[in-house]
Amino acid sequence: MVNTNASETPRVGVIGGSGLYRLLDQPRLVEVATPYGPPSSHVAVGTFADRTVAFLARHGTGHTVPPQRINYRANLWALASLGVRSVIGSSAVGSITPEMPADTFVVPDQLIDRTRDRADTYFDGADVQHLGFADPFDPVVRSALCDALRRRGESFVPVGTTLVIPGPRFSTRAESRAWRLLGADILNMTQYPESALAAELGMGYASLSFVTDADVGRAPDDEAVSAEVVFQRLSAAQDRIIGTIADAIRLLPAEPEPRALVDPAATARVLTLTVAP
Ligand code: ADE
Repeated sequence: MVNTNASETPRVGVIGGSGLYRLLDQPRLVEVATPYGPPSSHVAVGTFADRTVAFLARHGTGHTVPPQRINYRANLWALASLGVRSVIGSSAVGSITPEMPADTFVVPDQLIDRTRDRADTYFDGADVQHLGFADPFDPVVRSALCDALRRRGESFVPVGTTLVIPGPRFSTRAESRAWRLLGADILNMTQYPESALAAELGMGYASLSFVTDADVGRAPDDEAVSAEVVFQRLSAAQDRIIGTIADAIRLLPAEPEPRALVDPAATARVLTLTVAP
């Protein structure tokens, strides 16, 4: 494992919007160099929900990295190299089913990948691997999220199929209808390959999906989603999202079994270790 001079190893990682940075108390900002290049941001390591937690801003700290440019391999590698074994990915999603209206949480159990040309594996050379991905989200992390949502009295759906579009644009009305026919419930731009790469590194990954919109709507002349609506609903729900993540972290095992096929710590290096002001 990379030596971060940490008194404790972060076993839990959170990937989310930069607004979640404030969840850590006095974080250390760790810059990790990976064989895949730099992650979206430094990793903030600090105490949260009585645990040492590593937080990574998926789109960078200033929200400057669009979904199709995120270095997913570096992001997951960086977390694994710090010792993370369970990951909560927090995302805004659009809903294409009336059962999951805006303002609801979903903890998806299935995924359809419709992204294009994303680097989505660490096994890209002679080390041929065909790993199972039938159940793309980790049951232990999913159950912690569902228990946390239930205890907090949140409106949530404990299963669902997420379909990941390439972005950065939203779907057309015809695409949105097609996604529904394919069996999707919610839409997102980043849950793949985040989930697949976490699995390759032996980290349990689940998504806390917050429904911000109904995509293009249900009637032909319904107003379609806009980025403004997504950010506005997401920021209004920030405290609920942070509270749910905190409660879920408390429910996660403190020392999950290691199950990595590769050892990211062997190749990642901590470049700098900064104490946040
Ligand atoms: N993220 C939030 N809303 C979305 C939508 N409608 N489509 C894709 N990603 C989203």
